Amino acid sequence: MSVAAIVPAAGRGERLGPGVPKALRLLGGAPLLVHAVRALAGSVQVGLVVVAAPPHDVADVRRLLADHQVGASVVVVAGGESRTESVALALAALPPEVDVVLVHDAARPLVPVALVDAVVAAVHAGAGAVVPGVAVSDTVRQVAPDGRAVATLDRSVLRAVQTPQGFRREVLVAAHAAHAAHAAHAAAPGAGATDDAGLVELVGGEVLVVPGSPEAFKVTTPIDLDLAEAVLASRGIGGLLR
Ligand code: CTP
Ligand code: MG
Repeated sequence: MSVAAIVPAAGRGERLGPGVPKALRLLGGAPLLVHAVRALAGSVQVGLVVVAAPPHDVADVRRLLADHQVGASVVVVAGGESRTESVALALAALPPEVDVVLVHDAARPLVPVALVDAVVAAVHAGAGAVVPGVAVSDTVRQVAPDGRAVATLDRSVLRAVQTPQGFRREVLVAAHAAHAAHAAHAAAPGAGATDDAGLVELVGGEVLVVPGSPEAFKVTTPIDLDLAEAVLASRGIGGLLR
């Protein structure tokens, strides 16, 4: 089977604060995107990485990935207004022979290669859609708009979902096609989906959750970038965790 990875990297990173787009922010001297692509390329399974870049930065991102020796064939396309749109644009750029697709946030630069391999293995073992999930350590309480607590959720059945998410190509393509077909309507499926597995669920598909990794955390706010610097500094030369 031929495996390709899609990296949505076109977000602005508003929660991280002013500056260049989040995927281009530096971590240990290299952009978050470069770390993420290196981790994907670290899996022997992954032969191609398609990056959805901020539309104004496509040429810069191409140059950047050529200069940084990421270890895989890379294609860069312009991303869209939403993460879903960015993934759809990258999906349209995949060559025909690809039959397994990973989708991995540029904002998760420190994902261990072993997690990439585990997600691919679960798709190879027969799952149509696979997501890594980690246990929730805080108590999770549902609240009303006025701040009153409504309920305390049973966290033993909850998982915080990460990337890379893995799909049989036709499953991901069908989920995105259904989303695009309904996008014009107010109650579009996908309106409530923040990831690709969510789109698969909305069309009735099954999603398998495999164990995630604390190191696959997403860089969202400034403290996440501080944490990422500390984690990276604790790793060996090259910064890749196998
Ligand atoms: N993403 C994308 N295209 C968009 C929006 C997001 O490719 N139009 C990507 C981001 O670049 C990131 C991933 O989706 O790698 C996860 O999104 P998120 O963490 O929300 O990143 P941003 O949207 O950049 O951050 P923010 O929401 O704080 O602006
Ligand atoms: Mg966002």
